[in-house]
Amino acid sequence: MEYAPDQLAPRERYKVLTSFVLPRPIAWVTSISQSGLVNAAPFSFFNVFCEDPPLCMFAVSRRPDGRTKDTLVNIQRTGEFVVNIADEPLARAMHESSGDFPPDIGEPHHLGLNLAASSKVAVPRLADTPWAMECKTWKEIVVNGDRVLIMGEGINFYIRDELWDREAMRVHMDRYHPMGRMFADRYCRTDDRVVFPAALGAR
Ligand SMILES: Cc1cc2nc3c(=O)[nH]c(=O)nc-3n(C[C@H](O)[C@H](O)[C@H](O)COP(=O)(O)O)c2cc1C
Repeated sequence: MEYAPDQLAPRERYKVLTSFVLPRPIAWVTSISQSGLVNAAPFSFFNVFCEDPPLCMFAVSRRPDGRTKDTLVNIQRTGEFVVNIADEPLARAMHESSGDFPPDIGEPHHLGLNLAASSKVAVPRLADTPWAMECKTWKEIVVNGDRVLIMGEGINFYIRDELWDREAMRVHMDRYHPMGRMFADRYCRTDDRVVFPAALGAR
């Protein structure tokens, strides 16, 4: 089975991409509106890909009716956001925060999620997240006029204390349970893990 992209409608390409490139990590992005309302929404066209500087990227599409998503409006105004990671206890709320809430409803408040002040940006993080990265926009790339890739530079990391071995600089994997996105409304747990011996000459 092969396709050239021009044989497929955009929605079909989306399916071909997201049905196979999975599980995808999920950025649960908090941002702040002009009136100070805190917004939260998940984005799984997301990853981190550089440590010097620490960079992440996620892609924001328009809503089907053409409206711009609140996350993008907020980030374009402030240049700041926080990437929170959802673990199993937070997963349901993360999913529900993807609903089409009007701009004057803040998802954390609506869903009863606690917020905690960030250290270097005005946008709060989600208080119960296992990990968060406070970000300033590093670069913005507009794709085809209807999608924006937001690249963020991490300027502060938060890690829930019990998850981190400070001496070894390692996560306690037995205590960390992030969720992955499969496709549509399907997710996966990440507890079934496999370890291979180090590859020859690997660093
Ligand atoms: C797990 C998950 C991943 C999502 N990933 C994306 C994504 O990568 N890009 C996007 O534009 N929307 C994505 N969405 C949809 C947004 O979360 C949704 O449109 C949300 O309402 C946007 O909220 P906002 O208007 O508050 O920014 C995703 C939804 C879910 C449940």
